Amino acid sequence: MRATRLCLMGWGVAFCLLMSSGQGGSRADRADHLVLLYTGETQNFLEVCGCRQSGLGGLARRATLIQRVREETPHVLLLDSGNQADDPRRGEVIVRAMGRMGYHAVTVGAMDLRRGKEFFDSAQAAGLPLVVSGGRSAGVPGWVKEWLLIEVGGRKVGVVGLAPGGEPAGGEDASLVPLLSRLRREAEVVVALSQLGMQRDRLMARRAQTGSSPPLIDLIIGNASAEGLTQPEVIGGTWIVPISTKGQHVGRVDIEFASSGRLRWRLIPLGKDIPDEPQVAGLVGKYFEEEAEALLHASEEEAHNNVDVNAAYATAEQCGECHAKAYEMWKKLRHAHALRTLVENRRVVRECLRCHSEHYRRTGRVPKGLGTRGEGLEPPSTLSPELSPLTDGVSCSTCHGDGVIHSLTETKQSITRNPGQAFCKKCHDKENDDDFDYKRDVKKIRHW
Ligand code: HEC
Ligand code: HEC
Ligand code: HEC
Ligand code: HEC
Repeated sequence: MRATRLCLMGWGVAFCLLMSSGQGGSRADRADHLVLLYTGETQNFLEVCGCRQSGLGGLARRATLIQRVREETPHVLLLDSGNQADDPRRGEVIVRAMGRMGYHAVTVGAMDLRRGKEFFDSAQAAGLPLVVSGGRSAGVPGWVKEWLLIEVGGRKVGVVGLAPGGEPAGGEDASLVPLLSRLRREAEVVVALSQLGMQRDRLMARRAQTGSSPPLIDLIIGNASAEGLTQPEVIGGTWIVPISTKGQHVGRVDIEFASSGRLRWRLIPLGKDIPDEPQVAGLVGKYFEEEAEALLHASEEEAHNNVDVNAAYATAEQCGECHAKAYEMWKKLRHAHALRTLVENRRVVRECLRCHSEHYRRTGRVPKGLGTRGEGLEPPSTLSPELSPLTDGVSCSTCHGDGVIHSLTETKQSITRNPGQAFCKKCHDKENDDDFDYKRDVKKIRHW
């Protein structure tokens, strides 16, 4: 077998590895340049991770990026290393979006396995080519491939999927050797999509070094960044390349078969410079509208049936009866409009409400008045910013306690003077406000 020398470039550093030149067609038919795009660890994230538009990620941006790369270069292979979602409704959106994006191989993570049959059924319906190799855990259906041999631009790429579960740790790694040896003979590039974790990826990479080049695996794509890997790690002739979590980046490996086989690697951030692909954005938008409607509907039903979901806490208006100045000052702050922000962004959903609405935190529901269909979902241009359902954002009782006994007795019972900075950071966390500075920011909410 002929061996071609391939080099990996990242941060100006070039790594080299030996790859088999494979059997392929005649030389002339074969592309000189392949692009592997890869994702993984989407972990329920449909859109930007964090509140700020400067955040990264989103399925609709991912779709645009993939489309752009396909437009600029003809031979693109699209892979995913698993852990799409364990939330069934989000999982369904992710599977359908990925189905549209045209993945060539996808493996399965613990989150996907938790969804079980329903995950496999929806993946099959969306035409996602799943691959799970070696010791399979129970529940992986027969149609899921043990390996894939994909031809792109006349080049053959072998893909295995190292899913969690199955045999005891280590066992399945060894049992994969015969399969990999077979694949190695057929394929010019062998890729392992891995859910094994960094330690076992390293073990796998060592096992792939058989003494004769090339190794059994060229590239391992795993959730290595969760364990701190920010650039490729090279073991013998095998690279372990990282992927970020929550769909924030797309990994890209360029393989140049000519020019003595060079390989370049990078993680492309899905920033706000990448516009949403309209169809995937439509799928995501529809999901959020349905979620919002279900919540609003539940609140309406309760109002209709006179179920009183009001937890005992004093609203800002009630506090304002005695603390007029604090109330007037607070009303001008963004805290007072946090729920309005969600309405305007069409995201009146649980995951956002938990920081953006006091009523939701206390009752698990959206406030009455927001519940009228249409009004709640449309940006409320006709509603005054002072309308009370919309000022139920980060309210007095969020920070000072329910204030019920305090309001009745005017004593210090049920009232906290200062919630302290650790409390602020429950919402102003790394993901949603990475430059929060208590000393500076507490001055900005002055209402006393
Ligand atoms: C009926 C009038 C009344 C209402 C309603 C009321 N307060 Fe007060 N509040 C007072 C008075 C009077 C004091 C001063 C108590 C004292 O110094 O013993 C006070 C004191 C406070 C303090 C300072 C406590 C401290 O330890 O120094 C805070 C904070 C406060 N209120 C917040 C609230 C919040 C939040 C609400 C609504 C949840 C609220 N109050 C509702 C009358 C009221
Ligand atoms: C329950 C969640 C939560 C807590 C607790 C919280 N915040 Fe906020 N904060 C928010 C949200 C949400 C926004 C943005 C609201 C918007 O723009 O819709 C915000 C906005 C702010 C802003 C921008 C205000 C402005 O008007 O420009 C500051 C400053 C701030 N918070 C400081 C604090 C401080 C200091 C604390 C602790 C004393 C705190 N926050 C506690 C959720 C919280
Ligand atoms: C863990 C608490 C938390 C959750 C959950 C949360 N937010 Fe926020 N959000 C905040 C805080 C804190 C701020 C204020 C950040 C700042 O001042 O920069 C904020 C601000 C915002 C802003 C204003 C951002 C800006 O730059 O002006 C928007 C829009 C927003 N959130 C939307 C959402 C949406 C949509 C969701 C659900 C997908 C969500 N948030 C979930 C805490 C949260
Ligand atoms: C994001 C958290 C937060 C929200 C929301 C909030 N406060 Fe405060 N409040 C504070 C902090 C922090 C202080 C300063 C406490 C200190 O300096 O000890 C304070 C101070 C006060 C004081 C002065 C206490 C004193 O005697 O000096 C009053 C009264 C008060 N808040 C009432 C309110 C009322 C009424 C609302 C709603 C209209 C409200 N707060 C909303 C965090 C909050």
